[in-house]
Amino acid sequence: MERTERKKPQSLADVIQTLHQLFAGDKVDVEEVQALLESYQSDPHEWLKYAKFDQYRYTRNLVDEGNGKFNLMILCWGEGHGSSIHDHADSHCFLKILQGQLKETIFNWPCDEKKELTKKNETILQENQCAYISDSIGVHRVENTSHTEVAVSLHLYIPPFDSCHCFDERSGHKKKVRLTFTSKYGEKMPLANSVSQENN
Ligand code: SIN
Repeated sequence: MERTERKKPQSLADVIQTLHQLFAGDKVDVEEVQALLESYQSDPHEWLKYAKFDQYRYTRNLVDEGNGKFNLMILCWGEGHGSSIHDHADSHCFLKILQGQLKETIFNWPCDEKKELTKKNETILQENQCAYISDSIGVHRVENTSHTEVAVSLHLYIPPFDSCHCFDERSGHKKKVRLTFTSKYGEKMPLANSVSQENN
Protein backbone atom coordinates (compact mmCIF):
# COMPACT_ATOMS: atom_id res chain seq x y z
CA MET A 1 0.00 0.00 0.00
CA GLU A 2 1.36 3.47 -0.89
CA ARG A 3 1.84 5.71 2.11
CA THR A 4 1.97 9.47 2.38
CA GLU A 5 5.02 10.60 4.38
CA ARG A 6 3.58 11.91 7.65
CA LYS A 7 5.07 14.41 10.05
CA LYS A 8 5.30 13.48 13.72
CA PRO A 9 2.15 14.80 15.42
CA GLN A 10 2.86 17.80 17.64
CA SER A 11 -0.27 17.44 19.73
CA LEU A 12 -3.29 15.25 20.43
CA ALA A 13 -5.30 17.58 18.16
CA ASP A 14 -2.80 16.77 15.39
CA VAL A 15 -3.31 13.04 15.98
CA ILE A 16 -7.09 13.43 15.76
CA GLN A 17 -6.86 15.47 12.56
CA THR A 18 -4.62 12.83 10.94
CA LEU A 19 -6.97 10.03 12.03
CA HIS A 20 -9.83 11.83 10.28
CA GLN A 21 -7.73 12.00 7.11
CA LEU A 22 -6.65 8.36 7.36
CA PHE A 23 -10.19 7.10 7.85
CA ALA A 24 -11.90 9.26 5.25
CA GLY A 25 -11.75 6.05 3.20
CA ASP A 26 -12.43 2.53 4.40
CA LYS A 27 -8.92 1.04 4.48
CA VAL A 28 -7.05 0.56 7.75
CA ASP A 29 -3.26 0.43 7.49
CA VAL A 30 -2.47 -1.05 10.90
CA GLU A 31 1.26 -0.24 10.80
CA GLU A 32 0.66 3.35 9.78
CA VAL A 33 -1.90 3.95 12.53
CA GLN A 34 0.31 2.27 15.11
CA ALA A 35 3.30 4.40 14.04
CA LEU A 36 1.19 7.57 14.20
CA LEU A 37 -0.07 6.84 17.72
CA GLU A 38 3.33 5.76 18.95
CA SER A 39 4.99 8.93 17.63
CA TYR A 40 2.68 11.17 19.65
CA GLN A 41 4.52 12.12 22.86
CA SER A 42 1.95 12.08 25.61
CA ASP A 43 1.32 15.51 27.11
CA PRO A 44 -1.08 15.40 30.09
CA HIS A 45 -2.06 19.06 29.54
CA GLU A 46 -3.77 17.94 26.33
CA TRP A 47 -5.76 15.04 27.73
CA LEU A 48 -6.31 15.77 31.44
CA LYS A 49 -9.78 17.16 30.80
CA TYR A 50 -10.88 13.70 29.55
CA ALA A 51 -9.29 11.77 32.41
CA LYS A 52 -12.14 11.01 34.83
CA PHE A 53 -11.22 8.38 37.39
CA ASP A 54 -13.48 6.12 39.41
CA GLN A 55 -12.58 4.62 42.76
CA TYR A 56 -13.72 1.11 41.87
CA ARG A 57 -13.25 0.46 38.15
CA TYR A 58 -11.55 1.69 35.04
CA THR A 59 -13.44 4.39 33.14
CA ARG A 60 -14.05 4.94 29.41
CA ASN A 61 -14.05 8.57 28.24
CA LEU A 62 -14.98 9.46 24.69
CA VAL A 63 -12.69 11.97 22.94
CA ASP A 64 -13.79 11.81 19.30
CA GLU A 65 -16.40 9.90 17.29
CA GLY A 66 -14.48 10.09 14.01
CA ASN A 67 -17.53 10.86 11.86
CA GLY A 68 -18.87 7.43 12.70
CA LYS A 69 -15.73 5.72 11.36
CA PHE A 70 -13.86 5.30 14.65
CA ASN A 71 -14.04 5.94 18.38
CA LEU A 72 -11.12 7.54 20.15
CA MET A 73 -11.27 7.34 23.93
CA ILE A 74 -9.20 7.71 27.05
CA LEU A 75 -9.32 4.97 29.64
CA CYS A 76 -8.37 5.73 33.25
CA TRP A 77 -7.09 2.89 35.39
CA GLY A 78 -6.86 3.29 39.14
CA GLU A 79 -4.42 1.20 41.15
CA GLY A 80 -5.18 -2.51 40.60
CA HIS A 81 -7.99 -1.90 38.08
CA GLY A 82 -8.35 -4.27 35.14
CA SER A 83 -10.68 -5.31 32.34
CA SER A 84 -12.29 -8.69 31.91
CA ILE A 85 -11.01 -10.89 29.10
CA HIS A 86 -12.85 -9.59 26.04
CA ASP A 87 -13.05 -9.56 22.27
CA HIS A 88 -13.32 -6.50 19.99
CA ALA A 89 -16.49 -7.13 17.99
CA ASP A 90 -14.54 -7.58 14.74
CA SER A 91 -12.98 -4.12 15.05
CA HIS A 92 -9.38 -2.97 15.08
CA CYS A 93 -8.16 -1.95 18.53
CA PHE A 94 -5.13 0.29 19.13
CA LEU A 95 -4.04 0.95 22.70
CA LYS A 96 -1.46 3.62 23.50
CA ILE A 97 -0.11 4.33 26.97
CA LEU A 98 -0.39 7.98 27.97
CA GLN A 99 0.72 7.56 31.56
CA GLY A 100 2.03 4.71 33.70
CA GLN A 101 2.16 1.08 32.58
CA LEU A 102 -0.45 -1.55 31.67
CA LYS A 103 -0.15 -5.29 31.47
CA GLU A 104 -1.77 -6.82 28.39
CA THR A 105 -2.43 -10.56 28.43
CA ILE A 106 -3.48 -12.02 25.08
CA PHE A 107 -5.32 -15.35 24.95
CA ASN A 108 -5.96 -17.52 21.91
CA TRP A 109 -9.46 -17.15 20.52
CA PRO A 110 -11.67 -19.38 22.72
CA CYS A 111 -12.58 -22.34 20.54
CA ASP A 112 -14.71 -24.38 22.91
CA GLU A 113 -17.29 -23.05 25.42
CA LYS A 114 -16.07 -25.45 28.13
CA LYS A 115 -12.32 -25.10 27.87
CA GLU A 116 -9.89 -22.99 29.86
CA LEU A 117 -8.47 -20.13 27.79
CA THR A 118 -4.86 -20.52 26.69
CA LYS A 119 -2.37 -17.65 27.08
CA LYS A 120 -0.61 -16.48 23.97
CA ASN A 121 1.39 -13.49 25.12
CA GLU A 122 1.93 -11.16 28.06
CA THR A 123 3.42 -7.66 27.71
CA ILE A 124 4.03 -4.73 30.01
CA LEU A 125 3.18 -1.72 27.89
CA GLN A 126 5.27 1.34 28.68
CA GLU A 127 4.48 5.05 28.36
CA ASN A 128 3.99 6.09 24.70
CA GLN A 129 4.02 2.49 23.46
CA CYS A 130 1.12 1.47 21.20
CA ALA A 131 -0.25 -2.09 20.99
CA TYR A 132 -2.70 -3.52 18.48
CA ILE A 133 -5.22 -6.36 18.69
CA SER A 134 -8.13 -7.68 16.66
CA ASP A 135 -10.25 -10.82 16.95
CA SER A 136 -7.98 -12.59 14.46
CA ILE A 137 -5.11 -12.23 16.97
CA GLY A 138 -7.15 -13.28 20.00
CA VAL A 139 -8.84 -11.80 23.07
CA HIS A 140 -7.15 -9.83 25.82
CA ARG A 141 -7.20 -8.57 29.39
CA VAL A 142 -5.72 -5.19 30.28
CA GLU A 143 -4.61 -4.44 33.86
CA ASN A 144 -2.93 -1.77 35.89
CA THR A 145 -1.01 -4.05 38.20
CA SER A 146 0.50 -1.17 40.17
CA HIS A 147 -0.71 -0.62 43.74
CA THR A 148 0.67 2.90 43.88
CA GLU A 149 0.39 4.45 40.39
CA VAL A 150 -2.61 5.12 38.17
CA ALA A 151 -2.45 4.57 34.41
CA VAL A 152 -4.07 6.34 31.46
CA SER A 153 -4.40 4.94 27.93
CA LEU A 154 -5.65 6.15 24.57
CA HIS A 155 -7.81 3.62 22.67
CA LEU A 156 -8.81 3.72 19.04
CA TYR A 157 -11.52 1.38 17.74
CA ILE A 158 -12.29 1.07 14.05
CA PRO A 159 -15.18 0.76 13.41
CA PRO A 160 -16.77 1.83 16.71
CA PHE A 161 -18.71 -0.74 18.74
CA ASP A 162 -20.88 -0.56 21.83
CA SER A 163 -20.92 -4.17 22.95
CA CYS A 164 -18.43 -7.00 23.08
CA HIS A 165 -18.04 -10.45 24.64
CA CYS A 166 -16.37 -11.21 27.95
CA PHE A 167 -14.86 -14.62 28.61
CA ASP A 168 -14.33 -16.54 31.82
CA GLU A 169 -10.68 -17.62 31.89
CA ARG A 170 -11.30 -21.03 33.44
CA SER A 171 -14.42 -22.19 31.62
CA GLY A 172 -14.23 -20.15 28.41
CA HIS A 173 -17.86 -19.17 29.08
CA LYS A 174 -18.85 -16.18 26.98
CA LYS A 175 -21.19 -13.31 27.86
CA LYS A 176 -22.27 -10.28 25.82
CA VAL A 177 -21.78 -6.93 27.58
CA ARG A 178 -22.75 -3.36 26.71
CA LEU A 179 -19.99 -0.78 26.80
CA THR A 180 -20.68 2.68 28.16
CA PHE A 181 -18.87 5.97 28.66
CA THR A 182 -18.15 7.74 31.94
CA SER A 183 -17.74 11.00 30.04
CA LYS A 184 -18.02 12.37 26.53
CA TYR A 185 -15.87 15.26 25.28
CA GLY A 186 -14.76 15.98 28.83
CA GLU A 187 -18.30 16.11 30.30
CA LYS A 188 -19.44 13.45 32.78
CA MET A 189 -22.41 11.35 31.67
CA PRO A 190 -25.45 10.95 33.94
CA LEU A 191 -24.72 8.04 36.28
CA ALA A 192 -27.42 5.74 34.88
CA ASN A 193 -25.80 5.86 31.41
CA SER A 194 -22.29 5.32 32.59
CA VAL A 195 -22.53 2.53 35.13
CA SER A 196 -20.39 -0.19 33.75
CA GLN A 197 -21.83 -3.55 32.95
CA GLU A 198 -18.91 -5.73 33.82
CA ASN A 199 -16.15 -5.38 31.40
CA ASN A 200 -14.18 -4.76 34.55
C1 SIN B 1 -9.44 -2.61 25.48
O1 SIN B 1 -10.02 -3.38 24.76
O2 SIN B 1 -8.27 -2.32 25.17
C2 SIN B 1 -10.00 -1.99 26.74
C3 SIN B 1 -11.42 -2.31 27.05
C4 SIN B 1 -12.47 -1.27 26.76
O3 SIN B 1 -12.52 -0.67 25.69
O4 SIN B 1 -13.34 -1.06 27.64
